[in-house]
Amino acid sequence: MKISFDLNGTARSAEVEPRTLLANLLREQFGLTGTHVGCDTSQCGCCTVLLDGVAVKSCSLLAVQAQGRAVTTVEGLAGDLPAGQLHPVQAAFTECHALQCGFCTPGMVMATVSLLKDKPLPSDAEIEQGLAGNLCRCTGYINIAKAVRQAAQVMQGSATAGEAAR
Ligand code: FES
Ligand code: FES
Repeated sequence: MKISFDLNGTARSAEVEPRTLLANLLREQFGLTGTHVGCDTSQCGCCTVLLDGVAVKSCSLLAVQAQGRAVTTVEGLAGDLPAGQLHPVQAAFTECHALQCGFCTPGMVMATVSLLKDKPLPSDAEIEQGLAGNLCRCTGYINIAKAVRQAAQVMQGSATAGEAAR
């Protein structure tokens, strides 16, 4: 089957089997290996991408479900920013040391972007709920939550990254 969709701001098309998973399409045909596959059973959230701006687990979607829609992966998150500049959520994860091995990080970042779109200044409970579908095997949740709070403040313009980190 031929599908056409927007991938990180560029119109793309691909030939896929009806059973092809979106995660596999992204990784194997487009080389976007920032979308990790940690479980294949819809539990870990490492494969999280944005579909029309909403976080989805790409291991649980068929590639054909992306037809006519917009997919954003961690590689496309910085979008139109100058080369080398990070999205505020990526910057916050870096500055707050919100990762250890980094395997869960792309999914955590994408889930956070989606969360902050819905809830620009989430409470701790909302952060916990918003990231409930993402598992970190290194158990780095304290700094992950700190990064989400920092990103929220920076994106609201209420603090610079440096101030929010203090
Ligand atoms: Fe998709 Fe784990 S690989 S949820
Ligand atoms: Fe290792 Fe989360 S940083 S799994």
